[in-house]
Amino acid sequence: MKKKKIVVAYSGGLDTSVMVKWLSQKYDSEIITVTGNLGQKKDLENLEEKAFKTGASKAYIFDLQNEFIEDYAWKALKAGAIYEGDYPLATAVGRPLLAKLMVETARKEDADMIAHGCTGKGNDQVRFEVGIKTLAPDMEILAPLRTWEFKTREEEIDYALQNNISISITKQKPYSIDENLWGIAVECGELEDTKNAPPEDAFQITKNPLEAKSTPEEVTITFKKGIPIAIEGQKYSGAELVSFLNAIGGEHGIGRIDMIENRVVGIKSREIYEAPAAVILLQAHHELEKLTLDKDTFRYKQNVSNQIANMIYDGLWFSPLFNSLMAFVDSTQENVSGEIKLQLYKGNITVLSRTSPFSLYNKELATYGAGDTFSHQDSVGFINLVGLPFKTISKVMQKNKLVLNENIVGQ
Ligand code: ARG
Repeated sequence: MKKKKIVVAYSGGLDTSVMVKWLSQKYDSEIITVTGNLGQKKDLENLEEKAFKTGASKAYIFDLQNEFIEDYAWKALKAGAIYEGDYPLATAVGRPLLAKLMVETARKEDADMIAHGCTGKGNDQVRFEVGIKTLAPDMEILAPLRTWEFKTREEEIDYALQNNISISITKQKPYSIDENLWGIAVECGELEDTKNAPPEDAFQITKNPLEAKSTPEEVTITFKKGIPIAIEGQKYSGAELVSFLNAIGGEHGIGRIDMIENRVVGIKSREIYEAPAAVILLQAHHELEKLTLDKDTFRYKQNVSNQIANMIYDGLWFSPLFNSLMAFVDSTQENVSGEIKLQLYKGNITVLSRTSPFSLYNKELATYGAGDTFSHQDSVGFINLVGLPFKTISKVMQKNKLVLNENIVGQ
């Protein structure tokens, strides 16, 4: 009988290395690993060789950096998606692309199952599995970390040593780190105690603002229909543009976030994020929207941004509602084109200039100086009508000797 095939989402770390061996034994199956390069710096070296040594029969590695930024991160950017006010959703935006990669690989290989290395208490299991179920409803999904016998990292290391799995067991890394171009997430270790300030070694790509350069740096970003296309007038691909901003933003201590967040499964967790490029671009994009969106659209979009952020966090990227909300977002971006100049300095971003051919800012209407064209008289009737219902209520209350709101009226 033909051996069953399992496609494993592989990072090359301890968990997924042990998983490859464990699955091949447990299911007597052929293992095919697949890895998406979304810009993680670590773990990618010798990955193929490592996978073969651990028992995989094939190892796919795909460079998805541009696809990740242009088809995934740019959507989150146009939407203005920031989870619970702080988190630019780096890990969460990467998961649907990896789910798609797993499904495509499983189809190509005619595999029977897909396995991932997420634990049973995180968000990523939800994002992967909801994504896989949507894209391949017939596919069987395995999550060994939820079921296997190893209770601690040490037990996994013992198993790895017994089975000749090459792992780098230097000193135990205190943090769990997930990295891609849109940002880095760091948890565990001392961070688990909310009393503790983040230790300096938790930060991977940003300078401490206190030690950042003492000369400010200016950066001008050009947007076209909500998408950043150039810096200082020079065009870049999505991945290049984000890498560039991560580098200069990191130098200036931009994009450090220390946050307690609500996970999908109901736990609160403490996480440190570093996302220089995402923080810079989200602020610049927001600034351009302030200039180019009309009042009602701008206000309404704030609610949509929040809804989209929650949906990305909750793993609902491939859902009908997400598609519909993104269609709304895209239609709002038609005139979100122009240039935003920012200054980066010791962890702060200051807006220096905003320009757009579609700017709705009209100096003749806004000015308090000469050349004012605003019709001040129009405000009289406008305010009368806005105030009319409240004036009417108040009169009725007075007639009945009632007080509308004691706190406010105070009588
Ligand atoms: N809390 C973040 C999220 O759910 C990041 C998860 C991965 N974090 C990590 N340190 N491994 O999107």
